[in-house]
Amino acid sequence: MKKIFGACLCWVFMIQLSAQNNYSILPQPVKLTKASGEFTFKNNTAIVVTKEAASFSSVAQMLSAQMNASFGLHLAVKTGNTKSNAVNFSYNEKLAEEGYELKVTNNKIDIQAKTGKGAFYALQSLFQLMPAQVFSTAPSNIAATAKNCSIEDAPRYNYRGLMLDAGRNFFPVAFIKRYIDLMAVYKLNTFHWHLTEDQGWRIEIKKYPLLTSQSSIRKESMVGRYGDMKFDKTPYGGFYTQEDIKEVIAYADKKFVTIIPEIEMPGHSQALLASYPQLGCNPDKIYEVATKWGVSEDVLCPREETFTFMENVLTEVMALFPGKYIHIGGDECPKTQWKQSRFCQDLIKKLGLKNEHELQSYFIRRIDKFITSKGKRMLGWDEILEGGLSPNAMVMSWRGTSGGIEAAKLDHDVVMSPNNYFYLDYYQANPKTEPIAIGGDLPLSKCYSFEPDLPELTEAQTKHIVGIQANLWTEYIKTPAYAEYMTFPRALALAEISWSPKAPKNYTEFLDRVKKQKPNMDALKIQYCPAELK
Ligand code: ACM
Repeated sequence: MKKIFGACLCWVFMIQLSAQNNYSILPQPVKLTKASGEFTFKNNTAIVVTKEAASFSSVAQMLSAQMNASFGLHLAVKTGNTKSNAVNFSYNEKLAEEGYELKVTNNKIDIQAKTGKGAFYALQSLFQLMPAQVFSTAPSNIAATAKNCSIEDAPRYNYRGLMLDAGRNFFPVAFIKRYIDLMAVYKLNTFHWHLTEDQGWRIEIKKYPLLTSQSSIRKESMVGRYGDMKFDKTPYGGFYTQEDIKEVIAYADKKFVTIIPEIEMPGHSQALLASYPQLGCNPDKIYEVATKWGVSEDVLCPREETFTFMENVLTEVMALFPGKYIHIGGDECPKTQWKQSRFCQDLIKKLGLKNEHELQSYFIRRIDKFITSKGKRMLGWDEILEGGLSPNAMVMSWRGTSGGIEAAKLDHDVVMSPNNYFYLDYYQANPKTEPIAIGGDLPLSKCYSFEPDLPELTEAQTKHIVGIQANLWTEYIKTPAYAEYMTFPRALALAEISWSPKAPKNYTEFLDRVKKQKPNMDALKIQYCPAELK
């Protein structure tokens, strides 16, 4: 009797474990009610889109395509009334823009949303209720099932971002698409594409062809640690044509990911100066595309010619990217050359400015005015606050949270991207056993510990925090596989903090759900860092 009782307990435990496994959605939904049983997809299961939900048809088609690729099923998408043995997409105007309701029962699956984006996020949750095979295209006999439950969900923040630096190292279009795919799986919705750097200009600008024929190529790159001052003596380059960019934007649009392009100014512009030295403070200087990492002293000079040039660049950029934000960098602009420049010193006097910092502010305000006049909003790193800013501009706080706090107090919208929580180029495990990284110490637990509601801000000021972003700088990250490794699993902490409701932090519980994503990440072939997932 004792033995049987023991066996029964063990059986019950196993059932609970396997059930829990399938309810482990990341980011955690607002409300999930479990139920016994599951829905099984068959070849005669329909995907139904009601008349009012016609705009979700592309999402319904995506479900059909994924069921075909992963399980070999052929599910027809139809318009009509909701029914049994179907996944029913319906419109619900009461839901939030990105919100959804998902109900899985033995008979059918009901998805309600107000927008295609909400329906898309319902699908992402549905996939996590299914076997990991749903994320794989490898042939298998695994049945397409989804655990019964009801979910009500909507994000905490509208802006859930990841930045990739394509300047230090170039990442091909195929990888950019994959990065966007992986973001979407975890309901991240903003891809910040860092496109220009001292070490390489990566976006085709038709009016200034030298930016791609020359400024995209450096003569060599650093090898190993910065302090070693070793170089590989091998030219390195790459850029995205405007056609590439259009292709990526169209792709991201299908995954409900908005792309924010970043064009750095007035600092981090050495590559630009290598082709257009007349925009620097020393027009006679021979500039070259930077080969060393770090912050370059070669910055743009605030001449009329420079503004005309940058406005022409931005005009092409704004024509390409449909999103409302244009990131202009604004960070790390050394003032040495402006201090030495007769032109800059005369301009400071003429404009009645106090110093070079106010000159930077003058630069940024002019660009801000230009971007605003075109119906877009400027976004920049927190240095853009120095010396005042137009109310329309949004600030990305990277030097911890202090820039974001100051910006929110001044009524600017803020994206929190503090280096001490969300710089994905920092080590995530023991540097002795990890591949070379820039430094730092940023394990998954530290990312997860970030709470964007800061005690320094009032409730009204807190409303200016529109979201969170993690940044992958790539001085040391040369390959897509390493980029994935540094991004995952830490992107899951980003997803959780930016999507899930504020709740007391429980790292053990979170880590448990991250570990349960392993089969999904394996099926997706994500090259995640295993350090904390053993
Ligand atoms: C930055 O890390 N310079 C934004």
